[in-house]
Amino acid sequence: MKKSQILSYLKDRHSCFASGGEISKILGVSRTAVWKHIQVLRDDGYVIDAVPRCGYRLVEIPDRLYADEIMYDLDTKFIGKKVFYYDSLDSTNREAKVLASAGVSSGSLVVAEEQAGGKGRLGKDWFSPRGMGIWCSVILRPDVNIGQAHLITMLTAVAVASAVEKESGVKPGIKWPNDLLIGDKKICGILTEMSAEMENINYLVVGIGINANIPLNAFPGELKETATSLSAIKNGPVSRLVLLKIFLEEFEYYYSMWLKSGFLPILHEWKKRCITLNRYVKVKTLRESWEGWAEDVDSTGELILRMLDGSTQRFIAGEVSLN
Ligand code: BTN
Repeated sequence: MKKSQILSYLKDRHSCFASGGEISKILGVSRTAVWKHIQVLRDDGYVIDAVPRCGYRLVEIPDRLYADEIMYDLDTKFIGKKVFYYDSLDSTNREAKVLASAGVSSGSLVVAEEQAGGKGRLGKDWFSPRGMGIWCSVILRPDVNIGQAHLITMLTAVAVASAVEKESGVKPGIKWPNDLLIGDKKICGILTEMSAEMENINYLVVGIGINANIPLNAFPGELKETATSLSAIKNGPVSRLVLLKIFLEEFEYYYSMWLKSGFLPILHEWKKRCITLNRYVKVKTLRESWEGWAEDVDSTGELILRMLDGSTQRFIAGEVSLN
C-alpha cells in the first residue's frame, strides 16, 4: 500500500525532509497522489510538516496501535507479521476466532483501541477503555498435543512479564496460572480459547489485556481494589506501541522455544517470576474451596497443594488467593 510505503519512507529519513518529487519517483506515484496520502496520514493523527522547496517531514506519530506502526522494524519471523487493527471491537478474541476460522495464518495479531465487550476468565468482563491499554489476540496453529494447549497461557504470562520488565523496569509477579500482578494488584490478564477436532488443534486464540495507561480513578467498582496499571506504578505513561512490539518479540522467542525444546525451559522462567509457590494459599474451583501449602507446579502446569493432613491435591484450574 502506497500510504504505508510513504510512511516508512518518512520514518527512514529520521525527521529529515523528503521532497515530494523524490517520494513520487521512488514509489512510482504522482506528486498529487503523494500529497493525498500525506493528508490521509494527517487525518490518522500523524504530524507531518510540509515546507515549500524542502518537502515533507514526519514530526510525530500518534498514540495508536496501527498495523503499520506495529510491523515497522518488528524483529519477528511470523508473530505479528499480519496485523488486523480495529478502532473498536466487542472483543479481539471473538474477532480472532472469526479470522482464524476463515484461515488466517498462524502468528496473526488482532488489536483494538477499545473493547465494548472484553472477555475475562470465568465468564467475567474485561475493562478495556479506549487507548489506555493493550487489548489484543494472537492466532496460533501449534503442532502440539491437545492436552498441552493450555500451557500457552503460562508461556504468554512469561512473555508479557519479560516485556513489561524490559519496557518499564517494573517486574511483575505471576500468580498461578497466568495473572500478572504488581504488589497484589492485577496489571494483565490472559484468556486462551481453542478450536479442535478430535486430537487436532485447529487454532488457539490467546487474548492479552495489559493495563498500560489507565488512571487509577478510571477503574470501575471492585477493580479499584484489585487492579492497577503500569502508568500508575511508574507515575507516568508507558508507550503502548513499544511495549506491544517487545511483547511480540518475547512471545515468538518463548513460543519457538516451546515447540523446539518442550515446556520445561518455559516452566523454569515461569517459576522464577511466580509468586504463588512456597506459601499458604486458597484455591477456589468451580465447586469447592481449598487451603494448603503451594508446593509446586509440575510440567503439565498443575498446581500441587500440600494439605494439613499431609496429602496432596492437584489443580488444573482455579482462582488462587494469596494469604
Ligand atoms: C482474565 O480474566 O484475566 C483474562 C482477561 C483477558 C482480556 C483480554 S483483552 C484482549 C482479549 N480480548 C478479550 O475479550 N479478552 C482478552
